[in-house]
Amino acid sequence: RHLITPHFVVEGEGHVDEIPSMPGVTHVSVDKLVEEVAADVALGLKSHLFFGIPDESAKDHVGSAAVDENGVVARALRALRERFGDEVVLITDVCLCAYTSHGHCGFLEDGVVVNDASVEQLAKMALTHAKAGADIVSPSDMMDGRVGAIRELLDENGFTNTSILAYSAKYASAYYGPFRDACDSAPQGDRKSYQMDPRNGREAVFETLLDLQEGADMVMVKPALAYLDIIRRVRDEVLCPVVCYNVSGEYSLVKNAAKAGLVDEANIVRENLLAMRRAGSDLIITYHGRDALQQGWI
Ligand code: PBG
Ligand code: ZN
Repeated sequence: RHLITPHFVVEGEGHVDEIPSMPGVTHVSVDKLVEEVAADVALGLKSHLFFGIPDESAKDHVGSAAVDENGVVARALRALRERFGDEVVLITDVCLCAYTSHGHCGFLEDGVVVNDASVEQLAKMALTHAKAGADIVSPSDMMDGRVGAIRELLDENGFTNTSILAYSAKYASAYYGPFRDACDSAPQGDRKSYQMDPRNGREAVFETLLDLQEGADMVMVKPALAYLDIIRRVRDEVLCPVVCYNVSGEYSLVKNAAKAGLVDEANIVRENLLAMRRAGSDLIITYHGRDALQQGWI
C-alpha cells in the first residue's frame, strides 16, 4: 500500500516493449496496459501513475496532444476505470515535455521557458485527465503557480474531488537520464531554469509550502535516494502525505549492478525502499514494486 507503480503508455496496439534504458520496464499500449495493471493488482499494487508517450508526429511547440480528450492517457484512464472500477487509484503525470517538439516541460519562447502561458496549458491537461477519470493529477513540470491554476480549473468544472499530488521539490538531476530515453523527452538545453538546484535544501521547504497554499493534497520529493535529507526535512514541516520518487536512474543503476553480480538485488531494493520510508515518505513511486512483490523481497 506504500507503493505507486509508473507506466509508460504508447500509441498503437499490442505493444509491451522493454525500455532499453530501464530493464524490466515497458512501453505499453492501452490494450496491453489493462493486462499489465491486472497483473499488478493481483500482486497487491493498487496505485498507478501514467506517463503518456505520443507518436513523434503528434508533437508540436505547445504540446497540443497533451490536452486531447482522445490522447493516449485519456484513453488509458477510461479503459482502466471500466475494467477495474474503484479497485485502483489512477494518477496521471501532468507535464508537457513528452508532448512538445522541443522537449521542455513548458512553452518555449525565444529559447526561454515561459512560466504563465505554460501554466494555462498544464491546467487544461489536468482537466483533460480528470474528465477521463483520473483520481489524482500530478504536475511534474515545476512551473510556478501551476498547482493553484489546476485546482481552480478543476473546481470550476466540478472536479472538486480530484486530488493533486504536487512534485514540489523536484531537483534538476542527472538521475532522470533513463526516463528521458523512455519518454524521448530530453530537452534542448537543460531544465535548470525551472527544476531546483541540488545545492539548495531550504528551497525544497519553500516550494513545498507554496504548493500546499495553492491547494496541493500531497507533496513530493524527487529524486529519492540522493535526497533523503530533503524527504526528512519536508516530512518534518508538513502534515499532509509525503511522497518520494525513486527515479529511473536510481532504478537502472541497481538493476544493472545486480545483473552484473555486484550487489544482491533483493537486499539492496529492500534496503533502499526502507531508507525512503525511514526518511519520512508515506508513499514511494518506484519501478521496483513489481519485482519486490513477485519475488517476496518485501
Ligand atoms: C518530466 C519528468 C521527469 C520524470 C518524471 N517526470 C524527467 C525530467 O524532469 O526530465 C523523471 C522520472 C524518472 O526519472 O523516473 N516532467
Ligand atoms: Zn516535463
